[in-house]
Amino acid sequence: MLLLHQFTYFIVIFGYIETGKCSGSKTMITNNGLNDVYGKNPGLKSRITSNGLNYANKVAMDALTANIRTFIVPDQHGDSSGVQYDLTNLRVTGFTEPQSSISFLPGGLKWTANGAGVSMHGNYRYKIHKKWLPTIRGSGTFDISVFGLDFSINMVFGVDVNGRPTIEARGCSCGIYRVKIKFHGGWAWLYNLFSRILESKVRKILMHKICDIVTKQINEDMEKKLASLPVTTILGERFLLDYRLLQIPDFHSSYMETFHKGEIYWFGDEREAPLDPPTMADIGDTQKMMYFWISDYMFNTLGYAAQMHDYLIRNITAADLPPDQRGILNTTCTSFLCFGNLIPQLQKIFPNNTVELNLFSGSPPTMIISPGQLTVGCSGKIMLYARQKDNSLAYVMTTVATMETSVNVSVSNELVHGEINDITLLLNVTDSAVGPINSMFLQVLTNSVIRAVLIPKINEFGKKGFPLPVTGKIRFINTSLRLLQNSMVIETDLNYTS
Ligand SMILES: *[C@@H]1O[C@H](CO)[C@@H](O)[C@H](O)[C@H]1NC(C)=O
Ligand SMILES: *[C@@H]1O[C@H](CO)[C@@H](O)[C@H](O)[C@H]1NC(C)=O
Ligand SMILES: *[C@@H]1O[C@H](CO)[C@@H](O)[C@H](O)[C@H]1NC(C)=O
Ligand SMILES: *[C@@H]1O[C@H](CO)[C@@H](O)[C@H](O)[C@H]1NC(C)=O
Ligand SMILES: *[C@@H]1O[C@H](CO)[C@@H](O)[C@H](O)[C@H]1NC(C)=O
Ligand SMILES: *[C@@H]1O[C@H](CO)[C@@H](O)[C@H](O)[C@H]1NC(C)=O
Repeated sequence: MLLLHQFTYFIVIFGYIETGKCSGSKTMITNNGLNDVYGKNPGLKSRITSNGLNYANKVAMDALTANIRTFIVPDQHGDSSGVQYDLTNLRVTGFTEPQSSISFLPGGLKWTANGAGVSMHGNYRYKIHKKWLPTIRGSGTFDISVFGLDFSINMVFGVDVNGRPTIEARGCSCGIYRVKIKFHGGWAWLYNLFSRILESKVRKILMHKICDIVTKQINEDMEKKLASLPVTTILGERFLLDYRLLQIPDFHSSYMETFHKGEIYWFGDEREAPLDPPTMADIGDTQKMMYFWISDYMFNTLGYAAQMHDYLIRNITAADLPPDQRGILNTTCTSFLCFGNLIPQLQKIFPNNTVELNLFSGSPPTMIISPGQLTVGCSGKIMLYARQKDNSLAYVMTTVATMETSVNVSVSNELVHGEINDITLLLNVTDSAVGPINSMFLQVLTNSVIRAVLIPKINEFGKKGFPLPVTGKIRFINTSLRLLQNSMVIETDLNYTS
């Protein structure tokens, strides 16, 4: 999804390699008219560099060379100045790969290809019906070769009202050094005498036609594909990431940048979070093929949506812990890390019971990224109950808690990994049904419980990683991640395998 736009910019240029396949099955389009966001900072940004374009160009040329012989060339039928003709069963028999390059222009990209050659074989049939002559017919096969085809076209990108990219072809030019035609069968020897005249005519027609076809492909077919690109994607069933373009991509001499909304909504309730995307720190690098900026704003809108929809209310019971750690929730203890030790009154009042925790987030969790550091903070209330033998719940106490963690993030393959580096938990008991509880003591012990139980569990999850949205055929190589002010930057080279 994120990469989808960038990926499309790449492939759109060369005609459809994989366009149909790059939208994930879970992606969907919404047209909820959230267009009041223009003028805000982006939550996501991407940079594609010259190295990226060169690679895309190479991939496209390799694909073209590999596939050109299987291209289906449509039959051609025509009727001009009394000559009716049909060209059928056209197929490509040879191809000379051009010197090709893609470069940045103000507002778009320029694709130049020089020295292409292509040969085709096909059947012809014609009928000449001039008024003062008897009808003449003929048929056979022919070979046509085009040499020294030079081609150049500019593609200008924009953005539509739904935040999807638009594309427009401008300034197509095409030159052909020579066309050679050879007929076989029937009166072929006769036609071949005149093929020179035909060749120069076909050369002129082709030069116009190629530009017409390519311009039409870009302005109609590719434009249509871009207009149906998804700009949102569902995350984890409950959330929706909106990555529509906020503005026209920016083109510089050695890179282009795209600016995306990068807000996460509750799926089904796409209300704007009352948060302002901060300005993300910039880096001037253009060595890698691609760069992605992800703002802490994206996480914070996720936190906001989760908080507003009571997603951050959780009950923890023995069943939520691995079997060998369930004893922690016991009121009668056989080991040190155990609630009966945290709150000694429990051993007397609720012996041989287990406790359950109800956690309520009090405000949306927040992420702050600063150079080299990522911290996540949350605060809320924890209510403790004892599950008694008759299965009833007895209220024990309430504590308010604030927690701050610093997280080490890294990226490998196409996954972002997180590891909790440090955690600080502050607890204040605000209410108790079992007499005074020492907050300090509770805090120290709770900290050990968190370190023993919670952190390994979260880290296990973080080790699996959060997948970056790339298609199966794109691999990240030489990937690294940097933490800057208010954003993380993923910088990477790409490897495409077909
Ligand atoms: C948590 O448990 C309480 C009872 O202790 C119950 O009322 C509540 O619905 C539970 N909440 C969730 C999210 O399961
Ligand atoms: C916790 O209590 C249950 C029964 O309430 C008991 O079976 C289990 O052994 C206890 N675990 C520990 C570690 O004390
Ligand atoms: C708690 O369980 C232990 C071992 O099963 C038992 O000896 C003890 O009597 C129980 N205490 C109460 C109050 O049920
Ligand atoms: C706990 O109470 C102390 C003193 O009243 C206060 O300074 C601290 O901020 C409180 N901590 C939390 C987590 O509410
Ligand atoms: C996090 O990174 C710091 C600095 O690189 C390192 O000292 C620390 O061990 C890392 N923590 C974890 C849990 O890997
Ligand atoms: C990875 O980086 C090295 C060193 O910059 C470079 O030589 C290599 O081509 C890069 N790999 C890819 C797949 O771009």
